[in-house]
Parts: sequence; structure tokens; C-alpha cells
Amino acid sequence: MSRYHDVRKQSEKICEPLQTEDYVVQPVVDVSPPKWHLGHTTWFFETFILMPNQPNYQVFDPQYNFVFNSYYETIGARVIRTDRGNLSRPSVAEIYNYRQYVDEKMSEFLQSDYFKPEHIELLELGLNHEQQHQELLVTDIKYILGHNPLFPVYRDNSLKKTAITSDIKMLKFPEGVYEIGFEGNGFCFDNELGRHKVYLNEFEIADRPVTNGEYLEFMNSGGYDDFKYWHAEGWDWVKNTKAQSPLYWHNIDGNWMIYTLEGLKNIDLDDLLCHINFYEAAAFAAWKGMRLPTEEEWEVAFDQLNWGKRWEWTNSAYLPYPDYKRAAGAVGEYNGKFMINQMVLRGASEATPEGHSRNTYRNFFPTNLQWQFTGIRLAK
Ligand code: AVJ
Ligand code: FE
Repeated sequence: MSRYHDVRKQSEKICEPLQTEDYVVQPVVDVSPPKWHLGHTTWFFETFILMPNQPNYQVFDPQYNFVFNSYYETIGARVIRTDRGNLSRPSVAEIYNYRQYVDEKMSEFLQSDYFKPEHIELLELGLNHEQQHQELLVTDIKYILGHNPLFPVYRDNSLKKTAITSDIKMLKFPEGVYEIGFEGNGFCFDNELGRHKVYLNEFEIADRPVTNGEYLEFMNSGGYDDFKYWHAEGWDWVKNTKAQSPLYWHNIDGNWMIYTLEGLKNIDLDDLLCHINFYEAAAFAAWKGMRLPTEEEWEVAFDQLNWGKRWEWTNSAYLPYPDYKRAAGAVGEYNGKFMINQMVLRGASEATPEGHSRNTYRNFFPTNLQWQFTGIRLAK
């Protein structure tokens, strides 16, 4: 109960520094308007918990299903993703009313006899879903503000910096049969389930991710101008987008500056690199004469790794584990249908809500996207 309200409040807290106009725009297809995140997470509780389980539940507005359904074919038609930023209605105020309405109904439901032990898993899914959208809110707010020529400040001291002062140490692991996948009683997503054995060759994995300074060496040595470090698709991306740096890097009169949630700042060479896509991560590793770790190597090594500030691109395609089972019904669409053409990221980022990630957590994104809080860990 209090956990429900804490998680719900946190989404609104993330939006506190916003002005009304900031809630509405969708500068690129992958970035959803903040007000859409606030509505969609609310719709999730209304659609998957209240409607099926609370007798005589009155939906807040029957038209919202069309606006806030993200991708659930089971639930029916919806606004196409690219159009999320074209909707001036429902207004931001109406969406906050929607949140309040659903929160009140959820309070009643959670205290009623209709709330049964078998609903706990679904409630946890709703809360973990909202936490995933909290991270997306931060990423999308950063994109919206960071692509405004005024480079507005989101919040002073919004995220803590990590100054890295020691060289990367490569940790050695022997060949052998290891077990990976979620085990235990707590919550996990369905894509982590089916603990299974894997055989790994001997490998080495870096104790920490790469810094801005280390990445700048790659840039200064012509990394973006030499095809030999890049996948074919990555090289096409470099040529088509004329990429020369990570996202949010600006070369101003020969000096590198980086847009942060605290505004445009001089580059901090000892801070961890952020906002690179899979192509850039793989190219950097190739330039180093190394590679990215597989997700299995990452999971085996995790308790010796400095992790949690950046999502780390792995060399593993996002595929179902051998015993993966899609849940029945609409929530079966949550993860399984995206297990194609994406790569797994491990760890967590400074935008990840406290306690949301874990050693078996499988995040995933397409190879060309830079806007998440992503970084690089080397392996060989
Ligand atoms: C796991 C972050 C890739 O962004 O679609 C949100 C999270 N799933 N709503 C995504 C998610 C359903 C998901 N990622
Ligand atoms: Fe969602």
C-alpha cells in the first residue's frame, strides 16, 4: 500500500521541475512526452488491475485506452507512437486528475477483500513498470531539454558524479559451466526466468566502465573516421548521421562541452562515459583490441564489478532463455515480443530508481539509440 503510493509519487517528483510545455513535446519517435508516461503508467493499473478485479469499476475516461495503450494488441487500437507528441488533450492537468482518480481507486481496491494474494504479482509488475517509465521519464526529459537551444537546467545537483581515478583492471575468470537467470522469491521480469547452465571460455572483464577521457582518446585518434572499427550497420549510421561524438557532446570553439541535467558543462574527463549506442560501444572496444562482455559473462562477474551508474551494452542479442515462457493474456506481450533485433544491456544507471535493477536484470534497446544512460565495459 505505502509502496504503491511511494512509487506513484516518485513519477510526479521527477516531473516537478517541468513547465507545462515541457510535458507535451515529442522531439523524436523514441522520446515520449512526459505527460504520456504519466498517463500510460496510470492506464496500466486501471487496465490490468482495476478493470478485471474491482467489481463495478468505472473507468475515468473510456477514450483514454486509445491514447495510453502503448503496444498491447490484446487491448486493441491505439494512437500510433509517432503521434504521442501531437496531442494537446488530454491536458497535463487532466492527466494529473486521472492519476489521482486511479490512485484513490487503487487504495480502495488494495484495502478491500477483492484484493487477493494472486494479484500481488500483477501489482508488482505495475510498480516495476512504473519504475521503468521513471527512468524513461528522466531520459526523455533530458532529450527534450537537451535539444532545446536554450539548454535549460532540469535540476541542480540532479545526479551524483563519479570521479574515476584508477586505471581499468581486467578481472580473470576461468572457463567452466556457470548458472545464470533469476532465482529467489522477489520480483523479476519474465525475461530473467529459467535459470540455466552456460559454458563460458576463460575470459577477462573490466572492473569498471569507460570514462569520457578514455573515449575521447578514441575520438581524437580518428575512431569515427575509420571503418575498420565498425560493424557495417554502425558505419552506415556514422555516415548517415555524420556522428562524431556521443549524444549531448558539443564542440564549442574547440572545447568539448556536455549537456547534463544541470545544463551545459565543460567535459569532465574522469566522469563515466554516457549516451553511446551499441555501434559506438563495439567500435571503441575494437579500437582497444578488445570486445564487449556477453550478458552471461557480466552476470557471472557482477559481484566484483563497479556497476550501477550506466547501462552497459553487452555483446548478447536479446533472445529468450531456453525455458522462457510468455505469460498468458495481455501481459504476455510485455517482454517476449521484443526479443528480436535488440541487444541486452546489464547493470543500471544513475536514472534507474533505487533498488529497481539486479544482477539478472535484462534491459534491451536497438543498436542505434544513444539516448539512454548507456556506457561501455571492456572484455576479452
Ligand atoms: C525494458 C526499457 C526496453 O522501454 O519499452 C516500458 C520498458 N516495458 N513499458 C521499454 C517498458 C513496458 C522497456 N525497456
Ligand atoms: Fe510501458
